[in-house]
Amino acid sequence: MEVIIRPTADEAAELTSRIIKKSILEKPNLVLGLATGGTMEVVYDKLVCAHKEDNLDFSLCRTFNLDEYIGLPVEDKNSYRYYMNKNLFSRINIDIRNTYLPNGMAENYTAESKKYERLIRENGGIDLQLLGIGRSGHIGFNEPLSALQSRTREKALTPVTIEQNEIYFEPPESMPKRAFTMGIGTILDARKIVLLATGEGKAGIIAKAVEGPVTSMISASALQLHPKTTIIVDESAAKNLEEKEYYHWLFENEPEWDEYK
Ligand code: PGA
Repeated sequence: MEVIIRPTADEAAELTSRIIKKSILEKPNLVLGLATGGTMEVVYDKLVCAHKEDNLDFSLCRTFNLDEYIGLPVEDKNSYRYYMNKNLFSRINIDIRNTYLPNGMAENYTAESKKYERLIRENGGIDLQLLGIGRSGHIGFNEPLSALQSRTREKALTPVTIEQNEIYFEPPESMPKRAFTMGIGTILDARKIVLLATGEGKAGIIAKAVEGPVTSMISASALQLHPKTTIIVDESAAKNLEEKEYYHWLFENEPEWDEYK
């Protein structure tokens, strides 16, 4: 695991989008794992810019989202399918048939979960997985005590997550309390992982996930087991990290980051 600290949230999102851009240029038929949430909206705006201004070509890309609320049809503006279409897919030249999310309206949860795992496998596995982190420490909707080897399944959401996300729902109580999510094992199968967290509200959980012990109480801590994970944070989200100086040094001195300066 490596941690990269950028001065502002915008610069952290910029770095994230440039890593994605580079991966697409290197492998035009990239299998990209995608995340939703407020943090990612900036990243998607930047990818749209790269498409419009630098002709970044998504036509051969395939995407798999981490999760979807159970019980929301695709046309519901709070479904993650709706979010993805609005924030990214409708603004780039991706073939919508190559964009996958779990079907939140599926009645057989086990069958839907198995199907999602099979689709990921049939597409050759995820090359680059983008992640946010919730205040509960979740990646995807892997709430505390999710097995570190879990696969795609339905999961009940914690009160912390419900409090974090119900602001998007009208009325707030209408927020679904369950979701399909890739498992932690599914996420760890990705060849490369980039987690983006910005803002002081994430400082506490980032310190625990990155520098604390690996524990199923904090799903994101499982990323410490992955050989190619980059955590990108702004100064605010990095506030509680003990080895900040070292992480700054890494960005300044490691040759792999030269092209991003
Ligand atoms: P956020 O959500 O970007 O809206 O903070 C992240 C998450 O819950 O995974």
